[in-house]
Amino acid sequence: MQHRAVRRRSVVMGTVAAAGVAAVGGGAASAQAAGSGGTRATRASGALVFDKDDHTELTETIKDAAGTGHEVVYRFYKARPYVTDPVDAAYQSLVVSVPVRIDGKAVDTTGAPVVLANAIGGYMPSSVAQATGVGQAGGAGPSGSPSASPTGTPGGGTGGGAGGAGGRANLAQLALVAGYVVVEPGARGRSLVDASGTYYGTAPAAIVDLKAAVRYLRFNQGRIPGDTDRIVSTGTSAGGALSALLGASGDSPLYDRYLKELGAADASDAIFATGAWCPITDLEHADGAYEWNWGSNVTQSTGKVVDQGVSRELRARFAEYQASLKLRGLNGFGPLTARTYDRYLLTTYLQPAATAYLAALPESGRAAYLAANPFLTWSGGKATFTWEDYLAHVGARKKTAPAFDAFDLSAAENNEFGTGTTEARHFTDYGLRNDTTGLTAKRLDGDIPELLRLMNPMHFLKEGNPGRSRHWWIRLGTDDTDTALTVSANLAAAADNLGDEVDHAYYWDQGHGADTDPDAFLAWVARVTGHRG
Ligand code: DHB
Repeated sequence: MQHRAVRRRSVVMGTVAAAGVAAVGGGAASAQAAGSGGTRATRASGALVFDKDDHTELTETIKDAAGTGHEVVYRFYKARPYVTDPVDAAYQSLVVSVPVRIDGKAVDTTGAPVVLANAIGGYMPSSVAQATGVGQAGGAGPSGSPSASPTGTPGGGTGGGAGGAGGRANLAQLALVAGYVVVEPGARGRSLVDASGTYYGTAPAAIVDLKAAVRYLRFNQGRIPGDTDRIVSTGTSAGGALSALLGASGDSPLYDRYLKELGAADASDAIFATGAWCPITDLEHADGAYEWNWGSNVTQSTGKVVDQGVSRELRARFAEYQASLKLRGLNGFGPLTARTYDRYLLTTYLQPAATAYLAALPESGRAAYLAANPFLTWSGGKATFTWEDYLAHVGARKKTAPAFDAFDLSAAENNEFGTGTTEARHFTDYGLRNDTTGLTAKRLDGDIPELLRLMNPMHFLKEGNPGRSRHWWIRLGTDDTDTALTVSANLAAAADNLGDEVDHAYYWDQGHGADTDPDAFLAWVARVTGHRG
């Protein structure tokens, strides 16, 4: 049913996309034309060949992470589809930017890392179809409104977009001025609906699209400038979740049938390193984690008091889940459980974040901060405080309970698990059991377990997926109550426990989407990839 609707869409988009996405040009259309003859492989090797001469040379002044402007001459490869059979080429396309000269000095990108910067936000669609230069990716809701969402909770289309919307760093631009090859992929998102009312961008569309983009890059090894064996993915929030999932699920056969259906290139979709800022992931366990973390803050930022019975029940589920993970904390910390996690977060992340923040302040600024925040003790160059005081310092929580699988199906994530003409569905037993929309089903829909598996990096880390990325950069603001702190910390611990290299840190007093050390990230990219600029 969904499949048929999707096919119909792809024919429609052959024309629609051609109007909106001049660059798509022959891609979608010729893929359609080729549909009647030849094998998938021959179509792929033809239509998906990256034409390295099809670019314009642009000159722009781009600021580096320190805010210093540089004259960057770069080749810009406008939008082109990364699959032969796109459902919607306006989203399933990517742009490439390759630095040529920075401040008059030639850049050799032969062995340069390829930074794959997604701009996905809110699990909404993200498009580069109209981009005329680096760092312009944007969200696009059905009405062109990037914040369209059933809840209005998370906005889409922020992330790596123009100007680093919402105060976020524009990593695409920063990576370009650092001398890296930059690829910005579009991807389908949850709000996309075709003329027949069928949702065609809900799970697992976005991750399938990102994988297809990676396959395209690796298929074009030697044609695309840079080292396609050194792909470093970046994303924030939902984009961070998808970046982490891309890293964790590399080369998993579970996605093969979806990728085949799109005519993705026959190549590896494994990436080398993963950057994830405030990833909104592990969705089926996030409601419990949220209550464990923020449940003592009974009031939402809207002033609404959260149902304490629901909060308690969910919190108990977190304890069970956390125990089942059998994770050990970084730096020799023992088991991570509902009992130990507050101490773990305090000593591993929160106090070090506050320490770094205070140490960087001038003496007078530090004195003022300490006077305004007496819960914090500053001694011997170190900040200490209690978990309870930290929670009080953060204050009101952003979300209600449950935070993700809403009883009335109003959360963004309910829409992310929509299917066919059904806009939103439950994806936890608890959410379904407490449904307030009149559903009578006793069980989750049969396809939900597989979708959860396809959308959750924790599953792939738990099994030690051999195709996963081995380098992880994970960041989160300490004021970010969009999800529990344990979500990022579990991700970091799961990768670390497998022996991967993990750099996870928190930004003190920063909210959702923060990226206050992009320069350190770019230096980390150089180090882990062995790139000498
Ligand atoms: C985003 C934020 C959320 O709170 C959420 O539930 C999903 C996505 C985001 O900013 O991408």
